Amino acid sequence: MENNIRGGDAPIPCQLEANKNYAWCTCGHSENQPFCNGAHKTTGGTPPTIFTVEEAKEAYLCTCKLTSNPPYCDGSHK
Ligand code: FES
Repeated sequence: MENNIRGGDAPIPCQLEANKNYAWCTCGHSENQPFCNGAHKTTGGTPPTIFTVEEAKEAYLCTCKLTSNPPYCDGSHK
């Protein structure tokens, strides 16, 4: 059984670098939202989603973990 929680109630604006691997927390337990800090291993949460962007950009990354377009906020937290 997955043990996921909301990691926050609003997205976090992040400055993303091109072609860098990011680990977006899917379980909500990380204290380094929106990114994984390894907490899923001890909490029984789901592992992170690894993603990259092709061009540097600012993006609003989901913390509530309810988005249908991970890792990006789609407004589902409201
Ligand atoms: S701490 Fe949440 S996915 Fe790793």
